[in-house]
Amino acid sequence: MDVVIQSIRDSGDVRLLELAAVDGTPLPPYEAGAHIDVTLGNGLVRQYSLCCRAPSAAYRLAVKREPQSRGGSAWLHEVAHVGTRLGLGQPRNAFALTPAAGHYLLFAGGIGITPILSMAYALLRRGASFQLMYFVRDTAGMAFADELQSGPLASQVVMHAGQDAAQVAASLAAAMGAAPADGTQVYVCGPAPFMSAVTAAGSARFGAAAVHQESFSPAAIDSDKEAAFVLRLARSQRELPVSAGQSALACLQDAGIDIDCSCEVGVCGTCRTGVLAGVPDHRDAFLSASERQANDCFMPCVSRARTAVLVLDL
Ligand code: FES
Repeated sequence: MDVVIQSIRDSGDVRLLELAAVDGTPLPPYEAGAHIDVTLGNGLVRQYSLCCRAPSAAYRLAVKREPQSRGGSAWLHEVAHVGTRLGLGQPRNAFALTPAAGHYLLFAGGIGITPILSMAYALLRRGASFQLMYFVRDTAGMAFADELQSGPLASQVVMHAGQDAAQVAASLAAAMGAAPADGTQVYVCGPAPFMSAVTAAGSARFGAAAVHQESFSPAAIDSDKEAAFVLRLARSQRELPVSAGQSALACLQDAGIDIDCSCEVGVCGTCRTGVLAGVPDHRDAFLSASERQANDCFMPCVSRARTAVLVLDL
């Protein structure tokens, strides 16, 4: 789909973009939590959550200016302007709301508000019981401040600004403790340490199956916790050792093997690679549960190996 940027609004280091089809036709509806591939004018493809008030509303993206930008956020902040054309894929959802939970707890850390905001509007339309906890460094320049503080969601939003780790832990414990132990589903998006804290607290109170998360940041690889493994390439008869601090994708690329990739965070499926033997340690948000169980493919951008050797169809 070809779209054009209709409006741009900057809030601190977050840029809010409204998009419309170039030919004026309505863009496809989508579910809360969905993300979309965006092809930028510099050729990069990036994934962003859709954060709209209603499925029929204009598409909105919120893009944080990243100091360590891999080229996407810098281009959208520095080059894109009203009237710039972008390419869009179809909306995809790896972070859908459970249809009928008794209560929903939504946790957003910083720019992680984007899929969570769509969820809050969807739950409001359903008349569901929910609460949104939004953790920000400070309220100045906070994205969606007007909607969250005075719009229809305001009574269900709790803001937490400038909290340190101990205060965040206390706020999480209070929010989890106040929600019903049975029937509550937890959704979280934000920086990795924040998601880890929410996941740990939510799993302890409601069970791991009740906690759902999505990340658009590449997780740092902790070489102290990861194991090295070997990629055996069946067709080219090569063996490549993946070190504890390296991704399988980086290992393949360093060896000169051209693997298509886009998001590099396990959400788009572009780098999907066939597995002929060995057991992958699936860490993506793209494959379904049955696809994971089949163990016949993996996403080398984020996934690793449970066995010492993975034999790839390369
Ligand atoms: S590049 Fe997107 S899942 Fe690997």
